[in-house]
Amino acid sequence: MRKISIGIIGFGNIGCGVVKILQQRKSLLAQKIGVDIVIKKICDKDISTKRDVTVDKSLLSRDVNEIINDPQIDIIVELIGGINPAKEFILAALKKGKHVVTANKALLAECGNELFSEAAERGKNIYFEASVGAGIPIIKSLKEGLVANKFSSIFGIVNGTSNYVLSQMSKEGCSFANAINQAKLKGFAEKDPTLDIEGIDSAHKLVLLTYLTYGRIVKMKDIFIEGISRISSSDIAYAKELGYEIKLLAIAKKEVDELEVRVHPTFLPVNHLLSSVDGVFNAIYVSSDLAGELMFYGPGAGQLPAASAVVSDIVDLTQDIKAGLFKPTLNSIQDSSIKSLRQIDEFENKYYIRISVVDKPGVLAKISGILAKFGISIASVTQKEKLKAQVVPVVMVTHEVKEKNLRSALKMIDRLGEIKEKSVAIRIEGV
Ligand code: HSE
Repeated sequence: MRKISIGIIGFGNIGCGVVKILQQRKSLLAQKIGVDIVIKKICDKDISTKRDVTVDKSLLSRDVNEIINDPQIDIIVELIGGINPAKEFILAALKKGKHVVTANKALLAECGNELFSEAAERGKNIYFEASVGAGIPIIKSLKEGLVANKFSSIFGIVNGTSNYVLSQMSKEGCSFANAINQAKLKGFAEKDPTLDIEGIDSAHKLVLLTYLTYGRIVKMKDIFIEGISRISSSDIAYAKELGYEIKLLAIAKKEVDELEVRVHPTFLPVNHLLSSVDGVFNAIYVSSDLAGELMFYGPGAGQLPAASAVVSDIVDLTQDIKAGLFKPTLNSIQDSSIKSLRQIDEFENKYYIRISVVDKPGVLAKISGILAKFGISIASVTQKEKLKAQVVPVVMVTHEVKEKNLRSALKMIDRLGEIKEKSVAIRIEGV
């Protein structure tokens, strides 16, 4: 049987998972794919700490060059994360004629163009199934299963930490701070969860999903990103009353000949499939013209789910190598009906708005006057009971409104003497 050798860079949690799967499923994989996958070297800065998998000591090295310069290694598996030195390692490996598997969404989102171009020039492939949704086979589904489709939108719950926090707030009624603490205690959130909570991790994944659906790598700076740290328990409660759940969504959406790319907390109707995705689970909801509406759902993180995806990439590459195939990683055919990225000011959405006002006659009239001035039509309005002395929340749902008009109106409203807190506005989707 043909042997294909791999080198693993990064012997952390996912790296150990990959080794475990390749050890435990070695004969099953060989029977299925007709290739014996051989781990030739595993490189990590720390090779002394005991891992939850046993490997022959001779496989371990601190020197990445033992992988990059080994002509017998056909595939490198990069699992160290971060931009540098992962980028240098991948570029060096491509230059040495190796294919690449990576789970590194931040690197691909920031430097994808450069890495994919280098790979294309060398006739090598970069596969990255584990970078979005861990074990959920969303990358392969978009690249292969849905290859003939055009997409009107893709909505992703792609950050388990944020989804856990929002689910706890919604299901258990706890505060944002309390939910974050629980997430940390359960090991779902990093010590510093900023990247997850502020939507950056979701945006990294959105770059990859947008690439696979619309054929373009958008820059992080072109994605509108808003995290969940301003979501309060009261917004969650009002959302429920109005028939919605709040989810942090990564959205790529075609609007006529423009593309919107954005990450933000979103009101979704309770009966939308994504509303039932709770806890650390991820789901990607794809609207396609041929296959219709599809949802991909599963654990979005974890050693074995992520390692399962990495192994599927390794297997794909063994088949490419056997067949002498170069499959450009980029779905480099752009959707030509998209002329440009839509600027944030031009986004149009329905909105939930919460305004904290002093409870006295005429305030509502002033607010609705300002909304009318900016052409904002109100679908419903409720004034809630007093929370603090004299201050009451007014909760509104608008019809479709242009972002710039909404922002201008809220700015003016927040300047009124009767407004006691910065107003909250959350976009509504799925209706
Ligand atoms: N930090 C991510 C999350 C998992 O919370 O979903 C890795 O992509």
